[in-house]
Amino acid sequence: IKVQETFPEGFLWGGATAANQYEGAYNEDGKLPSVADVQPHGVFGYPDRSAKYYPTHKGIDFYHHYKEDIAEFGAMGFKVYRTSVAWSRIFPTGEEDQPNEKGLEFYDKMFKELKDNGMEIMITISHYEMPLHLADKYGGWKDRKMIEFFDKFVTVMAKRWKGIVKYWLTFNEIGNNIHKMEWMTAGIDPTTSTLQDNYQASHHQFVASSMAVKTIHEIDPDAKVGSVIEYKTIYPMSCDPKDSLVVTTEKQRGYFFSDVQIRGEYPGYAWEYFKDNDIEIEYTDEDMELIKNYPVDFLSFTYYRSRIASKDYLESVQKETNSSDKEVEGDTSYRGDDNILNTGKTNPYLELTPSGWSVDPDGLYLALEDLYGRYQVPIFIAENGLGVKEELIDGTVNDTYRMEFLRDHIISMKKAIRNGVDLFGYAWWGPIDIVSNGSGQMSKRYGFIYVDRNDAGEGTLKRYRKKSFYWYKKVIASNGEDL
Ligand code: BG6
Repeated sequence: IKVQETFPEGFLWGGATAANQYEGAYNEDGKLPSVADVQPHGVFGYPDRSAKYYPTHKGIDFYHHYKEDIAEFGAMGFKVYRTSVAWSRIFPTGEEDQPNEKGLEFYDKMFKELKDNGMEIMITISHYEMPLHLADKYGGWKDRKMIEFFDKFVTVMAKRWKGIVKYWLTFNEIGNNIHKMEWMTAGIDPTTSTLQDNYQASHHQFVASSMAVKTIHEIDPDAKVGSVIEYKTIYPMSCDPKDSLVVTTEKQRGYFFSDVQIRGEYPGYAWEYFKDNDIEIEYTDEDMELIKNYPVDFLSFTYYRSRIASKDYLESVQKETNSSDKEVEGDTSYRGDDNILNTGKTNPYLELTPSGWSVDPDGLYLALEDLYGRYQVPIFIAENGLGVKEELIDGTVNDTYRMEFLRDHIISMKKAIRNGVDLFGYAWWGPIDIVSNGSGQMSKRYGFIYVDRNDAGEGTLKRYRKKSFYWYKKVIASNGEDL
């Protein structure tokens, strides 16, 4: 019997980004706007078409800096690079019959650089950036027609990059449309959306995801397709069993998405939830068959922090989901460390980052045990990271806090691997500073590489290595031993 003592050989160390958060060139070479391109600075989840400044339009101009940036990832020794392909570069409105050749050529060149620098490529097919036209004309994923537009996009990519892209992820953080992120995840107008809309959209995404598994496997049998869920470890506020019941309910709200994509069917608790909330999913028998027959090959998840929950929190959520204007009534203090409202009580045992996110490496260990225990499929950590304000001093940033954060999370991964968790890779979020999804800030910096650009869009765009650049390089070279 062989026990895996540490990171397996070939472990995929790397980094992750999303096209809309860094490429820029939002209207170059035939690209049209995506839902991200009408998100102004400082506004989360709501489109606004009359703002003066949109941070994604220029991003960090990766579109014109990709060679230099990929060379830097290569210099750190990345084994994998996860990013997305901007759908609106390939099908600018989403409805064209033929893809935009210029858009495809950009990724041809970029993928060649990645390969030449020794990286496997992992592509998120949809990362908060569907063509704006599809949101405007069809109301996004509420409409079943989205499935065929998506399948066309997937088919073009799978054929073009057969043997080049080894890993595909269907939807970034599938399920976040039920957490007030429906504009980004599904192109649904958040001012009028209902729970019914959001779950119906998820159903269409499940069908599209299974179709993508089928299409990609048929075109490239060596490629692997995974899902991405958002995961926050949840602790009960107290040992009151009622608090733990809330934790279970909350976890099911999240598991729902991975249960369907991995186990291939809607779980009983979901039907119960739909009944209690007057949700009626429209589906066909063929949908359910497709979902059953084409589960994903592996699970990936994003992990930044943990939350706390209590029975009082559940009451506030119930009020929230029943109210049409989506404002939470009553006591919201138990929302805990919530991604969306950030109004909550925080966990007294954990430190917080300046933007109020708990730092919880043990939570990552618990997440790995929990998810592997539940599914027993290979796992990839699609995102993890620390975003803070930083200043360049003498051409660098002395970010020891980032190294400590990463070290502690690596220790948690190692512990899970020793226990038998089949973890095959890890991607640090934003290895180069990019635009924050939540706030549109440049100043919420995650990178090992600093980019000279501020929240108003000013700066030279020059890149500088931070101290953590050298540290992560050493960690990768030693396969996670030299911490
Ligand atoms: C993840 C998203 O939830 O969190 C990324 O997939 C996002 O797109 C990341 O950037 C970090 O969040 P933020 O708001 O700090 O950019």
